Amino acid sequence: MTGFDMTKLNLRLPIIQAPMAGVTTPALAAAVSNAGGMGSLGLGAVNAATAATLIKEMQEKTAQPFNVNFFAHDEPRRDPISEQRWLTCLAPLFKTFGSSPPDTLTAPYQNFDNTPDIVSVLLALKPSVVSFHFGLPSHEKITALKQAGIILMATVTCLAEAKKAQENGIDILVAQGIEAGGHRGIFDTTSRDDAYSTAVLTGLLTKNCPLPVIATGGIMDGSAVISALRSGAIAAQLGTAFLGCPETGISATYRQALTSDEAWHTQLTHLVSGRPARIIPNSFSALDCDTSPPPYPIAYDAGKALHHAARQQNNHSFAAHWAGQGAPLCRFLPVHTLMKTLEAEMKSGL
Ligand SMILES: Cc1cc2nc3c(=O)[nH]c(=O)nc-3n(C[C@H](O)[C@H](O)[C@H](O)COP(=O)(O)O)c2cc1C
Repeated sequence: MTGFDMTKLNLRLPIIQAPMAGVTTPALAAAVSNAGGMGSLGLGAVNAATAATLIKEMQEKTAQPFNVNFFAHDEPRRDPISEQRWLTCLAPLFKTFGSSPPDTLTAPYQNFDNTPDIVSVLLALKPSVVSFHFGLPSHEKITALKQAGIILMATVTCLAEAKKAQENGIDILVAQGIEAGGHRGIFDTTSRDDAYSTAVLTGLLTKNCPLPVIATGGIMDGSAVISALRSGAIAAQLGTAFLGCPETGISATYRQALTSDEAWHTQLTHLVSGRPARIIPNSFSALDCDTSPPPYPIAYDAGKALHHAARQQNNHSFAAHWAGQGAPLCRFLPVHTLMKTLEAEMKSGL
């Protein structure tokens, strides 16, 4: 392993609460950091001003290290003809909700490299950790953040991505297995996806790459955290396990979905956003359409518009209830109690 100084993370417990855009709140993430783990804010879908407000709120709530996460996807290649074809495919669904598709699609948010002022915000506020999903930002931005003493992490799904992260100066790998909830962090969705489980990927990376590895995907309790450590991980990153905490920003229907029979059958679909993501099955994942969606995040604009149209009719069947395969093991506990429970389970599992 590289000479990375783990004490910088000041982890009393090897538990990272996963960044989850649209779900994580300063109340959730700060409570995790204050309980001895590390909380994360998913800031991939907000602009620099909102990111600054949320980071300042975190800094008021905790003096402990925390992570802020951004999306580093490739700039989508625009193709108006295929975008129109996708909207035509969705038009009958909009019609069932008395609506029609938008005339055109736009990216609902920018990737990290193209988000104005985001690096200046991070250099001014200096969160301890910044992490990236879907790829890596430019060399110039990585260098600027590292020179400010910020620790950098990146989600990876295979050894080739891990090596690229290492070559580009990332400090810690987040090894995401196929069980994971939400979007798969694969860099290039057109490349072969070996769909490694979390345990296999963690083992492969810890033995073949010198960077420290955080395991993520399907880790729902303290004994699973211990298993990840035994596979060589320095910590476990849990997303779905925190979805039931009252400190998240999720809706009542999302909570209901987590306790439904469907939560036992999470699926990977690229139809909601244009990238593969694990979701509790909804009308989107059941969509039978021979047209491919536009690239991420253009397709998400249509996905969000369809959900909005359905919700106007009190229909939540197009809501994106992201969750991992462990969803039925989700516990609906406040962060403080969940962290204590995880700690007790870890102790008894040792
Ligand atoms: C609702 C939800 C939203 C997510 N959003 C993000 C995100 O914004 N950035 C990110 O790096 N990972 C995101 N992820 C993936 C997590 O970082 C992590 O890989 C995943 O939650 C691990 O699997 P688990 O849910 O089984 O614990 C999200 C996951 C979920 C469940």
